[in-house]
Amino acid sequence: MLANMMKFPKDFLWGAATSAYQVEGNNINTDWWEWEKRVGLKEASGLACRHYELYKCDFDLANLLNHNAHRLSVEWSRIEPQEGKFSERELEHYRDVILSLKQRNLEPIVTLHHFTNPLWFAKKGGWQNKKACDYFLRYVEKIVGALCENVKFWVTINEPMVYIHLSYIKGIWPPQEKSFLQAKRIMDNLIVSHIKAYKLVHSIYKRKKLLSPSVSVTQNIQAFMPCSPTLKNKCATYLRDKLFNLRFIETIIRYKSLDFIGVNYYSRSLVDVEKWGFKNLLLDICNQNHHPVKKNSLGWDIYPEGLYKILLRLKNYNLPIFILENGICTQDDNLRWDFIYEHLKNIHLAMNQGVKLLGYIYWSLIDNYEWDKGFGPRFGLIEVDYNTYKRTVRESARKYSLVCKTGELE
Ligand code: BGC
Repeated sequence: MLANMMKFPKDFLWGAATSAYQVEGNNINTDWWEWEKRVGLKEASGLACRHYELYKCDFDLANLLNHNAHRLSVEWSRIEPQEGKFSERELEHYRDVILSLKQRNLEPIVTLHHFTNPLWFAKKGGWQNKKACDYFLRYVEKIVGALCENVKFWVTINEPMVYIHLSYIKGIWPPQEKSFLQAKRIMDNLIVSHIKAYKLVHSIYKRKKLLSPSVSVTQNIQAFMPCSPTLKNKCATYLRDKLFNLRFIETIIRYKSLDFIGVNYYSRSLVDVEKWGFKNLLLDICNQNHHPVKKNSLGWDIYPEGLYKILLRLKNYNLPIFILENGICTQDDNLRWDFIYEHLKNIHLAMNQGVKLLGYIYWSLIDNYEWDKGFGPRFGLIEVDYNTYKRTVRESARKYSLVCKTGELE
């Protein structure tokens, strides 16, 4: 038994993540809130998990579960509900949120942009606007200035490529555009915004004579694989890997604007291209289940070895890596524990190959609003009853808590 024991470093960070819009509730000044109402989305976010009021209770549970870190996002539209008008009350709220984490020995990892935009910003064209970066920086200055004394880890933008893909290529999320040209413009804007925000965050810490922070993005990395080894499929796999997985981080690394690589990993994607064509090469996938593996409740393949392969490739960038999201939605809590166990096993294997990892953050601490999919998918270590808002700790959370406590996995 003991021979199989996997040990993680003493200073490893263990925890779980949430994002403001998905848990807080009543984020009425966002583009998402307006969009949910306008298109009549079957399940609107509403009160979400009422985390805006219940955060202390949620952090108590994270603490009881032996977490020593927590990833969360701050909601730009609360902090700046109208253009140029900042809310002292909301700044105070987030100060208290961060303080509550610190009091429970949870290291905060704070995301500045997690998919949602203030409505006023969206009305000006959002990230298509030439001044988008200036607007973003003004907000960054304000919120980082308010929280910097107690925050070491910052994530500027959550999954820029997922945002671009769903909002500007597939046109599923607001503003529901389908234009490669727009997508390219947004990507350029997000890259510049990250680089400038990175520099700004560092300059704030310097000005205040605080220890240098660690600033990153979270990059959603998928294990792209050709469904069958045709030339078309192999080319498409290469292209997608370059464009969706690596382009963003490679660019910001060139600009020396990344202190660690924030990785979000969920699944693999089987590439099966119908014909030669830019759109096909980028988007065609196989839905035939040719290579069956277990799936989550949204039908995504469970593929832990993909994470191992990805970590070994990322090692080449010579930066520490932080897993900032990895999780499963399922009604089967045994499957959740298997998922966590298998991914941790692969992470450990990669660490044995010299990959430098700062920590592991599970998605998500509590069940939450899964965007256009509503409240059905259950990602949480902790179950939320949406009638009573009662929290119930799942068995998988207890098993994970033992790993968090001992830094060992048997
Ligand atoms: C996002 C989360 C989302 C999760 C599961 C990530 O892409 O950052 O907001 O809930 O995946 O889909």
